[in-house]
Amino acid sequence: MAEIAVIGCGQAGLVVATSFASLGHQVVGIDIDRRKIEACSRGISPIREPGLDALLLDGVQSGRLTFLAEYPDVIEADFVFIAVDTPTSPSGACDLRALKSATTSMAPVLRDDAIVVNKSTVPVGTCDEIERLLRTSGAPRATVVSNPEFLQEGDAVRNFTQPDRIVLGSNHPASLARVASLYQDFDAPIFTCDVRTAEMIKYASNAFLAMKISFINEMASICDVLGADVSHVAGGMGLDPRIGGKFLRAGIGWGGSCFPKDVTALEYAASLHGVRAQLLRGVVETNRDMRRQVIRKLRDELGPIESTRVVVLGASFKPHTSDIRESPALEVANLLRLGGAEVRVVDGHVAPEDVTAQFPHLVVTDDLLEAARDADAIVLATEWPEFLELPFDELARVMRRPLIVDGRNVLDDRVVRDAGFIYRCIGRPGAEGGTPVITEVVNERIDREPVLVRNGRSPVLASD
Ligand SMILES: NC(=O)c1ccc[n+]([C@@H]2O[C@H](COP(=O)([O-])OP(=O)(O)OC[C@H]3O[C@@H](n4cnc5c(N)ncnc54)[C@H](O)[C@@H]3O)[C@@H](O)[C@H]2O)c1
Repeated sequence: MAEIAVIGCGQAGLVVATSFASLGHQVVGIDIDRRKIEACSRGISPIREPGLDALLLDGVQSGRLTFLAEYPDVIEADFVFIAVDTPTSPSGACDLRALKSATTSMAPVLRDDAIVVNKSTVPVGTCDEIERLLRTSGAPRATVVSNPEFLQEGDAVRNFTQPDRIVLGSNHPASLARVASLYQDFDAPIFTCDVRTAEMIKYASNAFLAMKISFINEMASICDVLGADVSHVAGGMGLDPRIGGKFLRAGIGWGGSCFPKDVTALEYAASLHGVRAQLLRGVVETNRDMRRQVIRKLRDELGPIESTRVVVLGASFKPHTSDIRESPALEVANLLRLGGAEVRVVDGHVAPEDVTAQFPHLVVTDDLLEAARDADAIVLATEWPEFLELPFDELARVMRRPLIVDGRNVLDDRVVRDAGFIYRCIGRPGAEGGTPVITEVVNERIDREPVLVRNGRSPVLASD
């Protein structure tokens, strides 16, 4: 068994630390966030992640897992994993300040033969930079291995312990082999390559997944006006093994702590080197447009959004996580608020103060019926299980107008309509009631005169 340190005990690092401890390794987690470390040291997870609480408590109680809020005099570890945040800076570049700070803090206290393993998602070339920085900051023999992390929030513990693949990249074959030995009992292929390629595999994987979602969302927009059903289109497409059925669920788009920053950072890095990554730009733009589509659908039914009262179901960026970073639900809520609507966000799994820290004007509650009182519409934005079976009869009684925009295509349209609601969704015009009506073409091309008349409803401007 190895001695392991994990620098950064957030969404990714805490899962890495607890999982390695559960496999019998001796693990120390180091994080500059004292509150987080205090909670972890008591065996209490600061994040919501299925299976994590039990692993954390077990690790702490067994003594295999300890936490530090400061860098010790010596990090007694064979492997030092980095999992600090790498957010987007205002320019679109990846912000490497936390990574550099962690690197210079650990360099003087590393064991001479320690291997630094980077799990933070970083631009190509960053691990080389970390190695240079380590060597000039007190660790002259340091070697770095890139080991990008592919876990998904909401299923992170299982993803880490039963991964599809383990990617390792390094310019130092001996270090790479030692890190590979850590994973020898995992039932997954270990893909080895040079360090820059490993860094690129992570960005390319996230960009591809984001593209898949944006692609089906663009298909949804086309289905909406041509009278096809995108969920069946996805079903039919997904049966082709070259395409695959995953990540083909149309909705209000992707978000979270990874896709937005990683696609943006990759596009930025490409542009710095003279490559116009047009596809990546389109992936981002289509995603943005899905948020605006919800507003358009509401406007179709309600007229002006101003002074309406709208309930947004969900605050986290997807179900089974309390993470609200770049949440599509909150972006929709914020757009509605900016349009003059009174917005109430319903989510019992996030800390309301986390939401109001970012969006001070949003009201967050876990009381659905109270939130829905006198509301003009509900937008289902995050498909938490409890939102799949809503008390429609009670909602219809308390709401001013019974209207639901199903931003995740998860509700049974017949059940919703039978309860007296108007049902709107994404790319399934047939599910919205009646037979699908092909949108009347007013102009030949939307980019020439951006006016369409949609199913006889109010005009939709392309620039909306
Ligand atoms: N969240 C995910 O699902 C996920 C999945 C795969 C990869 N990743 C990558 O992992 C990295 C971390 O992401 P996250 O979501 O866990 O971020 P996070 O913000 O949840 O956690 C980062 C942690 O690093 C700590 N930190 C910052 N500077 C530090 C320093 N100098 N020394 C010690 N600790 C420091 C912060 O206090 C924080 O607790 C990112 O690069 C991300 O892209 C995340």
